[in-house]
Amino acid sequence: MQGTPQPPKLYDFAPRLNTFRTDVIQGLQRPLKELPSKYFYDEVGSQLFDQICELPEYYPTRTEISIMQRNIQHIARALGPRCMLIEYGSGSSLKTRQLLEQLQPAAYVPIDISRQHLLNTATELAQAYPDIEMLPVCADYTSNFTLPQPSVQVARRVAYYPGSTIGNFDPNAAIRFLASIAQTCGQGGGLLIGVDLKKECNILHRAYNDSEGVTAQFNLHLLERINLELSGNFQLDQFSHYAFYNPIIGRIEMHLESLRRQQVHLDGQMVAFKLGETIWTESSYKFTLEEFAQLASEAGFRIEQVWLDTQQLFSVQYLSVE
Ligand SMILES: C[S@@+](CC[C@H](N)C(=O)[O-])C[C@H]1O[C@@H](n2cnc3c(N)ncnc32)[C@H](O)[C@@H]1O
Repeated sequence: MQGTPQPPKLYDFAPRLNTFRTDVIQGLQRPLKELPSKYFYDEVGSQLFDQICELPEYYPTRTEISIMQRNIQHIARALGPRCMLIEYGSGSSLKTRQLLEQLQPAAYVPIDISRQHLLNTATELAQAYPDIEMLPVCADYTSNFTLPQPSVQVARRVAYYPGSTIGNFDPNAAIRFLASIAQTCGQGGGLLIGVDLKKECNILHRAYNDSEGVTAQFNLHLLERINLELSGNFQLDQFSHYAFYNPIIGRIEMHLESLRRQQVHLDGQMVAFKLGETIWTESSYKFTLEEFAQLASEAGFRIEQVWLDTQQLFSVQYLSVE
């Protein structure tokens, strides 16, 4: 009998509202105001990110997908059969589908902070791939949480971290995070990772300043979320999206700029903004292949294989735990 597809069991370690509140208030009280980029992703934020992925200026998604398509057999061979595939920041698991088809892992563990979006995606995947055990985990992957155990024996643990989301960490934090993945996967395990490469500044600038203004909407949605969940009174038209590439540090910086002197209230707290003051909402580091190899090695990984597009805009890399 056909009916509404049943969602798989969700392992729920989602951050509490209190954690969100503390992080927001602390971030806005700093001399240089900042908010963690992980809070972009509620259901609307995840949908806006999916729209960004379709934009003509946003080369990373289509480039990564094309690298995966061209090399999927080699990639599947490197990862090996019957693994437990653990994806960090799985979103819509768009790039994962071809991997699931080719690789046939014993179990798939998508981890994401955006609960409803994760659940919707996992439900679709469970229907599409009934032979793969689906074990979705809602968690902040930088926090402590317990991975579910597959019901069958797996050959090894392989992590998947596409989208160059690694670039959202500062370098030392990136090393610590990759080291925690190496520990989770253990000896014999590996990591398939998408890493965005350094390139002409204008290509980068356009990717984060699209002509349709979707990235601006995504950035501003964070204030909308604070208004909704923390009783804030940010006026969205009094802030503007500001993103630029810093070639010395090798990163995109994304900010929300206050368009006037103003006071904002949230959850009983007042936050004052000067004209032109910004809230730093995201960094997105870009790497040379050598820089990323150094970072991976400091985290306890060995680079096994690197796949590139013809313009060398993006890389997909397979790393093994040393
Ligand atoms: C840049 S998107 C990439 C999505 C997808 N993997 C891709 O390659 O298109 C980042 C994803 O990671 C999730 N995410 C970001 N920070 C997270 C965190 N600290 N813990 C768990 N998920 C996180 C977001 O919800 C989002 O789905």
